[in-house]
Parts: sequence; C-alpha cells; structure tokens
Amino acid sequence: MGEKWVLMKTAQTPTNIAVIKYWGKRDESLILPVNDSISVTLDPSHLCTTTTVAVSPAFHQDRMWLNGKEISLSGGRYQNCLRELRRRACEVEDKEKGIKIEKKDWEKLHLHIASYNNFPTAAGLASSAAGFACLVFALAKLMNVKEDDSQLSAIARQGSGSACRSLFGGFVKWIMGKEEDGSDSVAVQLVDEKHWDDLFIVIAVVSSRQKETSSTSGMRETVQTSLLLQHRAKEVVPKRTLQMEEAIKHRDFASFAQLTCADSNQFHAVCLDTSPPIFYMNDTSHKIISCVEKWNRSEGSPQVAYTFDAGPNAVLIARNRKAAAQLLQRLLFHFPPNSDSDLDSYVIGDKSILKDAG
Ligand code: ADP
Ligand code: DP6
Ligand code: CO
Repeated sequence: MGEKWVLMKTAQTPTNIAVIKYWGKRDESLILPVNDSISVTLDPSHLCTTTTVAVSPAFHQDRMWLNGKEISLSGGRYQNCLRELRRRACEVEDKEKGIKIEKKDWEKLHLHIASYNNFPTAAGLASSAAGFACLVFALAKLMNVKEDDSQLSAIARQGSGSACRSLFGGFVKWIMGKEEDGSDSVAVQLVDEKHWDDLFIVIAVVSSRQKETSSTSGMRETVQTSLLLQHRAKEVVPKRTLQMEEAIKHRDFASFAQLTCADSNQFHAVCLDTSPPIFYMNDTSHKIISCVEKWNRSEGSPQVAYTFDAGPNAVLIARNRKAAAQLLQRLLFHFPPNSDSDLDSYVIGDKSILKDAG
C-alpha cells in the first residue's frame, strides 16, 4: 500500500416513520426491543441522510463530521457499528488507482466519515434512523462487506434501533427476535414501495428544534417506570402487528389508518405514563389530531392517518393524491407556516426506495 491514496464511497438513505412504534429496549447495549415494529420508508428526495466515507493510509484516527461539525466517535453505538463492519470487511482492489486493501488491513486503516441530514437532526423526524442506516450502508460498500441487507440491518440496529428499518424501501418490519445475541433481531421488507403507491405523505414540521428528551433516554425511563408499557408490549402490539400486516397486504386504508392512529396515541400515552411524564406532542400537534379526526368522521371513512414520533411533528399519510391535496388545503388554512400556529414548514412526498449513490 502506498501512502497517497484515498478511497471513498457515498450513499444516500431515507428516513422511516413507524406506524407500529418501537419504544423500549430489553437489552440496552445490543439494542433489542420489547416489541416488533412496522414502518414506512420515506422518499429520499425529502428527508434523507447523505454520508461519504473515506479510507486512506494517511488518516491517523477514525473521525466523523455530522452536518459539518466534528462529533466524537467514542460512543458505544458508533464503536459497535465500526467493529461489526471491520470484522466483516473483505479485500478491495481498485486497479485503476493501483490500490489493494487486504482483509487484515481494515483493522489498521482509519476512516473519515462526513454525514449530512437534509432535515432537522434530533427533532423527532428519525434522524438517527436515516443516519445510522446510511453510515452502515456506505461503510459496507467501501469495505466490500458481503452480508445481505437483513444482516446489515442487525448492524445498523446497534447504532439506533429504528435505523435497521431504513435499509429497505416500502413497508418494513423489525422482528424483535428471541436470541440473546440479537442475531435474529433484524428488519425484513413486508412489501416494496410499488405495492401501495397511492399513499401520499405530508409532514407538518411543528418544530425543528432539538427535543429535550432523546428517544434513547425517554424509552429507558419508560421501561423503568411505566406499567402501561408492559401491557402494550405483551398484549397490544403482537395482535396489532398482525392486523397491520394484513391491512398493508390488502391495501385496506380504513384498517391501516385506525391502527396507525391508535398506535401513535398509545405510544404517547405510554410516554405520559412514564415518571416523570414525557411530553413529545404540543398544542399544535393536538390540534392537528383533532382536525384530522373531525375530517375523517365527516367523510364517513378515513382519508388520512396521523402518527407522531418522539417529537411534536405530524406525519400524515393520505389515502391518495386527492386526499393529500384536500389535507394540505385544510392544513394551510388552519395551520399556516410561520404564523401564530407555531408551525415551521411542510414537507410533501411519496414513499420511496433506498438509493445507493455509491
Ligand atoms: P431523532 O428523532 O432525530 O431520531 P434521536 O434522539 O433518536 O433523534 O437521535 C439523534 C441522534 O442520532 C443524534 O444526536 C446523533 O447522535 C445521531 N445521528 C443523527 N443523524 C446522524 C447521521 N447522519 N449520522 C450519524 N448519526 C446521526
Ligand atoms: C418514536 O431508534 O431513535 O421513533 O434505538 O435509542 O436510538 P434508539 O432510539 P430510536 O427510537 C425511535 C422511537 C420512535 C418509534 C420508532 O421509530 O419505531
Ligand atoms: Co431516533
């Protein structure tokens, strides 16, 4: 190996929004959840992470920049992902550049990582999901890791639980798994993005500020203090997951909307049942829920499903383009951006597939 070369890969990964929420871990360091979850992967042109990874003999330590600012890689989550990928790295040869990296070289070579989110970080729009999925995906390309996407999802899971679901497009299930080592806690694609292509997603960015309680510490406190979480994880989610899979398979929007809204509301109820209680939604979020509920009732059948992650921002899933247009008209009337309604902006998009920009 000479000293002068740099080898780079870039990947782009969309975020995903859960319609059956993951909230609570049974193992903190391996990131193993207390229940299965199901999500929809969003269009990467709207909410996505772009990560460039580079390797060179000239690098003397692993370093990472997030949105242009250097961050520490010393946290266990980054270290776990890097360790798992280095372990699986294979020989890489670039004849044009005259570069050959042997399998054993990856242990010594250092990495530089630059990542950008094109949407607010740590604001309840699943930046950790797009972020860690993209990191693992880009590094796997660079290091010629030969694992399939489900095995990669088990690595991304160790960066952030929700990240395992961003390795696939369409609707994705994270199977909680039974094994102690987490080897069967992986994401699988339920259907691809073409299966239900009528759906239209509108995101109301109520606030792009960083949330006070991170998902990680919020769910830790919930596991420690909420009795409702045990009921949810054992009694409610197993049945609801099966019903959701059926609704998705049959493109049954009425059931899909009912299950999605109910699960979002129960997740926020579990946050309230935490001691001290966690408030992720705010007045604007509550008003958006009332507005959608009222409209759905007046139409006789649901036109829009709502779901809120660990933040005040509404993810609204309309049954088709027409419903999305009507929804936007209503939202813009009742919640004009940057006004007294305290709403920042709207993001409108399709569902989509993971893109490999490498
Ligand atoms: P969110 O609701 O946005 O997912 P979390 O509290 O779950 O918020 O996670 C935020 C954390 O995820 C950030 O503090 C950072 O550590 C990590 N993260 C966000 N974006 C990236 C990225 N592009 N690459 C790597 N890590 C990221
Ligand atoms: C409300 O995956 O961000 O978005 O695993 O601790 O990194 P860590 O948490 P994270 O939690 C996501 C919680 C959620 C629901 C979901 O995405 O399923
Ligand atoms: Co997150």
